[in-house]
Amino acid sequence: MTASFTLLLFGATGDLSRRMLLPSLFGLDADGLLPEQLRIVGTARSTLDAAGFRGIAGEALERFVEPERRGGDKVVRFLDRLAYVPLDASEPAAYGTLAQAVGDTRGGLSIFLSTAPSLFEPTIAGLSASGLACSSTRLALEKPLGTDLASSRAVNDAVASAFPEERTFRIDHYLGKETVQNLIALRFGNALFEPLWNASGISHVQITVAETVGLEGRAGYYDGVGALRDMLQNHMLQLLALVAMEPPSRFDATSVRDEKVKVLRSLRPIDRASVASHSVTGQYGAGAVGGQPVPGYADELGRASDTETFVALKAHVDNWRWKGVPFYLRTGKRLPARCSEIVVQFKAVPHSIFGDAQLSANRLVIRLQPEENIRLLMMAKQPGLDREGLRLREVPLDLGLANAFADVRRRIAYERLLLDLIEGDPTLFVRRDEVEAQWAWIDAIRDGWAATGMTPKPYGAGSWGPSAAIGLTERDGVSWHD
Ligand code: BG6
Repeated sequence: MTASFTLLLFGATGDLSRRMLLPSLFGLDADGLLPEQLRIVGTARSTLDAAGFRGIAGEALERFVEPERRGGDKVVRFLDRLAYVPLDASEPAAYGTLAQAVGDTRGGLSIFLSTAPSLFEPTIAGLSASGLACSSTRLALEKPLGTDLASSRAVNDAVASAFPEERTFRIDHYLGKETVQNLIALRFGNALFEPLWNASGISHVQITVAETVGLEGRAGYYDGVGALRDMLQNHMLQLLALVAMEPPSRFDATSVRDEKVKVLRSLRPIDRASVASHSVTGQYGAGAVGGQPVPGYADELGRASDTETFVALKAHVDNWRWKGVPFYLRTGKRLPARCSEIVVQFKAVPHSIFGDAQLSANRLVIRLQPEENIRLLMMAKQPGLDREGLRLREVPLDLGLANAFADVRRRIAYERLLLDLIEGDPTLFVRRDEVEAQWAWIDAIRDGWAATGMTPKPYGAGSWGPSAAIGLTERDGVSWHD
């Protein structure tokens, strides 16, 4: 595909745009990575002109981009690319004006939709009617894409009526994170792991995405959605798919997504019969995070709610490679630390010549944030004369990405994704069959919760979730890696 010459940003004055999209586009521009001719047309409901939008963008850059990266005429040059058209997205007639402002689309148009789900369908209808959904237009969609399989299908059908799948770019910003791509490099760029990367070599996998933040003023979106649908349905299942997939034959959109979807379809349903033993949900009460007292979820919300702010699951991938290997997943808000990591726990040596007490089985810890690193925990001999036998200790073999690549700037996940969109590479975007497999699995869990009357258990803000989450792994003799 060829690069687009226009990027149309819906929701251009919103939070995502200010915090992530505009700073990312600026970062790409400052490094000379955007096509010379690229114009960025912002649109949102606010009645602004181009100067007003440039003002908002300038403030966003000041707030979210380090001063040393804003030197010279970089900011002015970037702001020059920006135009703005106010739009009531629910009003079909308004799209004519938008189309006029976008102008000639023959050079290629990329559209980034980050709007309320209720506006998806009218927006797509408006884009079609005004000729903006032409054969060279690509459409990127930010979540939430539905709240269950049925509503996600409705969104996907509406999108498909105007954009074929190869020009539909569903965003999961976790796929734009460096360490997530590094997982692919680690697995398929090294011969070392693959022979052990299966049920013979691995005893279990843990995926944790822990956040310290609470509602962050997002009650309107978050309440009624909850951790399962906000984080697990998308980001965490994508991580699981990357850990569990078979080696794709190439690093391209079809090969990688074909392998991920096979994993997602192989997830063993957690249904009414197993939901009580395989899932735990929680909601934070008052507590303290980082030494600061914080209110409970219901207090932040101003009323009682049964939305879960924590979820832990024990999942299985039912195929030959992963037979009998549990994947423990957990995510929550107001946990003690911000930390996302994947832990691959290898099996113990078959026989210890040193006495069992001394040996810990190898473990690979892939840390996505706050810092990016990959550590392989190994046993090594403690220095000494060993009059009473060799003494061993677990030490990390540290891939120290921060040091190895110290001269390379860490980019925001959206930089990679926006550039891929503009250049037309869908490898790191989620295909329809993947999203639908994700929803099908999540819907069964929610159905199980409803049928068995499961409601979130309270946990104190600043703790690792309800104690039942500890029980979920300890029953199997496994501890969470905190
Ligand atoms: C978003 C969720 O998709 O991801 C938020 O809606 C969450 O609730 C965020 O805070 C986490 O993203 P990151 O990149 O900070 O881990």
